[in-house]
Amino acid sequence: MKFNYQGIQIFVKDSYEAISEKSAQIVAAQIILKENSVLGLATGSTPIGMYERLVKMYEEGKIDFSEITCFNLDEYYKLKPENEQSYSYYMDKYLFSKVNILSENIYIPSGITDDIEGVCRKYDEEIVNHGNIDLQVLGIGNNGHIGFNEPDIRFEAGTHLVQLDEETIKANARFFDSIDLVPRQAISMGIRNIMHSKKILLLANGENKAKILEKMLFEDVTPNIPASILQLHNDVTIVIDELAAKYIKHRL
Ligand code: GLP
Repeated sequence: MKFNYQGIQIFVKDSYEAISEKSAQIVAAQIILKENSVLGLATGSTPIGMYERLVKMYEEGKIDFSEITCFNLDEYYKLKPENEQSYSYYMDKYLFSKVNILSENIYIPSGITDDIEGVCRKYDEEIVNHGNIDLQVLGIGNNGHIGFNEPDIRFEAGTHLVQLDEETIKANARFFDSIDLVPRQAISMGIRNIMHSKKILLLANGENKAKILEKMLFEDVTPNIPASILQLHNDVTIVIDELAAKYIKHRL
């Protein structure tokens, strides 16, 4: 089912597989239409199925990553790339090691630094030097975070160091052996980086995302619900399942 709510395209699918298929098709179309696209990529459990399908399309010769550049949204602070919970490790595992992307075209903010400010400004510069992101893939946190932009009293513009919310630490503990091992800080693209992307593709599945999706679409734009800023972007596509659409479907 497809809805258009205030210019935002919303696809409601009946399964995680269908979300993964639809989102992979959208990313593949971007790659086919512009071979040197700049993609903004997300981690978390939601896009894994999408990455699996993109790898399959690559193996079947349908898409080519040789001219693609990727910028990842975020990375845990002080987590080494070889740590299995790092987003660097995740991206390698699910996508980069399986397609023909050039290593020099992969950008992930480095959490291994004492010069946070330097890393953040350089990341912002690289994004701008590449002409900004063509298609930014996003998940959404239970508290409305996009990337690791946590609810706050103001929107953070550029790449920055974030203090993770207790809720986020709890939600992400499932990926670690114990909650104590979840880093308390991360480096994340800011809201300006995300909003300057030409297109946005947000994925969500499961009932635990239903409430926040309702808030992000129907409440006023506020830094307290970081994803609400997407109401002001002019090219947003949301792909969700029936469970995540529970509170919004009747309002579309
Ligand atoms: C993580 C990531 C986000 C992701 C979100 C949702 O903390 N920093 O980029 O979108 O949380 O994760 P999941 O897809 O596992 O629900």
